[in-house]
Amino acid sequence: MTNANTPIRVAVIGTSVISASFAEAVAAATGIRIEAVYSRDADRAAEAATEFGADWSSDSLDEVLGSPLIDAVYIASPNSVHAEQVAAAITAGKHVLVEKPAVLTAQEWRDLVAQAQDAGVVLLEAMRTEYDPGTALVRSLLPQLGTLRLASLRYAKRSSRYDLVLAGERVNMFDPALGGGALADLGVYCLHAMVGYFGMLDRLSTAVVPVPSGVEGAGTITASYPGLIVDLSYSKISTTQLASEIQGEDATLVIDEIAAPRVVELTHRDGTVTRHEVPGDPHPLAGEIDRFVALIAAGEDPSAEQLLTAQTLELIERARATTT
Ligand SMILES: NC(=O)c1ccc[n+]([C@@H]2O[C@H](COP(=O)([O-])OP(=O)(O)OC[C@H]3O[C@@H](n4cnc5c(N)ncnc54)[C@H](OP(=O)(O)O)[C@@H]3O)[C@@H](O)[C@H]2O)c1
Repeated sequence: MTNANTPIRVAVIGTSVISASFAEAVAAATGIRIEAVYSRDADRAAEAATEFGADWSSDSLDEVLGSPLIDAVYIASPNSVHAEQVAAAITAGKHVLVEKPAVLTAQEWRDLVAQAQDAGVVLLEAMRTEYDPGTALVRSLLPQLGTLRLASLRYAKRSSRYDLVLAGERVNMFDPALGGGALADLGVYCLHAMVGYFGMLDRLSTAVVPVPSGVEGAGTITASYPGLIVDLSYSKISTTQLASEIQGEDATLVIDEIAAPRVVELTHRDGTVTRHEVPGDPHPLAGEIDRFVALIAAGEDPSAEQLLTAQTLELIERARATTT
């Protein structure tokens, strides 16, 4: 049982850079601590436990999930592994924070949400953008734009691991068997932000640039709403130098980074510009961690966020189905 005086004890699943970043953010958060680390390899688990400030480690997921010392798990394994690990954690009565994209299909997610409800545990996708103060800033400015007409949302950053793909090596994030690809890895931020800002859409069409491993390395999506068209672009094989933008009839909003807005400029019809900055230097994962703690400790309702995850996963599926 958790309360304000007993921090939520988390087990970390996965030992890559994002788990280290999660541990860093947890160390700065209140109401939560890293209790244990699971890795498929015992030495790696022990090393990561030291690095992440955990009390113990294991190479047995059953041992971790069966431990009464664990209240919750943070899952940062490859995308195709999430569903099985989420289901096992829920069955063991643990709260779950699972990295984006939560699972591979919207139906898988809905089934897991139902399981979590039945088990009385919190299930949340670690979609950092949703909980970022920059996203809240953008939301607060949208009413000033008037009727929305066009938007361009982009997240394109060349991955150093693309060179390994070109050299013929197998790389998890480019591996179709592990749910890899630029859409699941970076495009998901644009899709999630789009649904969060504008709601579900009528139609979409997709074009992709494939890479030799068989996933999309880059792509574009055109999404149509009544009176509004949104183009999204994402890439792991090239890097954008452009900001994202939302155009309304009264003003235009330029957003420096769609996944974590830090500087947002509003240009009004008369040409006046107001610049808004997110104060301080918030850790990119701080918001999702605070939200996870609040959901567990205060018993708040995650259903709106779970719906957003389901809608985003549905759009990934629809985008893949309409790919040209
Ligand atoms: N929020 C963010 O900003 C952000 C950033 C990067 C990634 N992510 C997400 O985090 C997740 C992990 O991404 P990543 O690039 O870090 O992945 P990764 O390096 O390929 O794998 C993450 C960890 O999962 C374990 N693992 C690797 N291959 C596995 C397999 N075949 N079966 C089971 N476990 C395996 C490994 O831990 P052990 O070998 O120690 O078991 C590894 O450290 C993805 O869902 C990704 O989308 C989020």
